[in-house]
Amino acid sequence: MPNPASLLAPLTVGTLTLPHRIVMAPMTRARSTQPGDLPNALNATYYAQRASAALIVSEAAQISPQGKGYSFTPGIYSEEQVRGWQLVTNAVHQAGGRIFLQLWHVGRMSHPDFHDGALPVAPSALPFEGQIWKVDDATGIGAMVDSPTPRALERAEIAAIVEDFRKAARNAITAGFDGVEIHGANGYLVDQFLRTTSNHRQDEYGGSRENRLRFLKEVVDAVAGEVGAQRTAIRLAPFLTARGMDCPDILPTILEAASFLQERGIAYLHLVEADWDDAPEITEAFRQQLRERFSNPIIVAGNYDKPRAQWVLEHGYADLVAFGRPFVANPDFPRRLVEDLPLAPFDGATLFGGAAKGYIDYPTLPLARAA
Ligand SMILES: Cc1cc2nc3c(=O)[nH]c(=O)nc-3n(C[C@H](O)[C@H](O)[C@H](O)COP(=O)(O)O)c2cc1C
Repeated sequence: MPNPASLLAPLTVGTLTLPHRIVMAPMTRARSTQPGDLPNALNATYYAQRASAALIVSEAAQISPQGKGYSFTPGIYSEEQVRGWQLVTNAVHQAGGRIFLQLWHVGRMSHPDFHDGALPVAPSALPFEGQIWKVDDATGIGAMVDSPTPRALERAEIAAIVEDFRKAARNAITAGFDGVEIHGANGYLVDQFLRTTSNHRQDEYGGSRENRLRFLKEVVDAVAGEVGAQRTAIRLAPFLTARGMDCPDILPTILEAASFLQERGIAYLHLVEADWDDAPEITEAFRQQLRERFSNPIIVAGNYDKPRAQWVLEHGYADLVAFGRPFVANPDFPRRLVEDLPLAPFDGATLFGGAAKGYIDYPTLPLARAA
């Protein structure tokens, strides 16, 4: 038996038994078929190539047209999208893997061009400091663009979005996913409700910590009520400061969320420690406080390497470690990490958009290397 805290120890997560602790982090690759934001056979090949991960968390998928904020990201609200995702889940399961779908509503991190000219929505009409990736319809060229100040959601609209999350979770299970991860991180809609910086609401969704947590709780309850707590997970980003999200009350808010998530018995809590354009420091005190409140599996992600992964597991601060960028150019990344094999670098120019190049053409290492 491997040491229970080692990268190679199996682990039960919800209804699944994972063979080891190396998870593939969610990564937007913007290669859905247009029109319709449809997952396709290319996506199925990409994910199946990476099925040796203990668990794959899919790229974020918008729960409604309103939830979209980048070009070419896939949806999980139409029947055709469900059929597209079935290609992905079948391919991953046939390759022996397991996969959760990440449920996404971007809130204010969007652009009117995705919404027939309508403004993106948010808890409050406050701009974010940042840009979104959008492909120009005329030239076909992708670029980072500014977005206007969003409009504040009406209360009835908030209830409708919670319902969209519920339906999207059902669609994900119909499409064959093993569970869903609510995207509560990185400055998107759930996160926008959590923070005093992006949420200035005067009603029961803003102000006190309890009120700022209300939307998260409603979404978790709707999703878990629909597909079961064991198939429900969430991703949170306590140390995010970019994107206008630097909230002085976020750590206690997230600890309170962790207590709620523990009560509900969700499958796992996924913590973003450092993201693409943001490298925050996570303190050991916070890791301890989180662990005290949440005893189901914790996944951590953000610039991990093997020594840090082993450290976090051995200290019991996490049960699984997710890797993002290493999986891009190394479809067999778990083996390379465990056996200390060389890692291939990825081509940044083909991360978002495009087709097979820089997506499904990164090779695995031969099983027996020549002596
Ligand atoms: C190309 C790319 C796309 C990403 N898309 C998502 C996403 O859709 N959802 C999400 O929660 N995080 C997303 N992330 C963040 C990753 O899940 C991960 O937290 C981050 O890359 C840090 O891990 P790493 O240092 O192992 O890459 C993305 C990161 C990259 C590089």
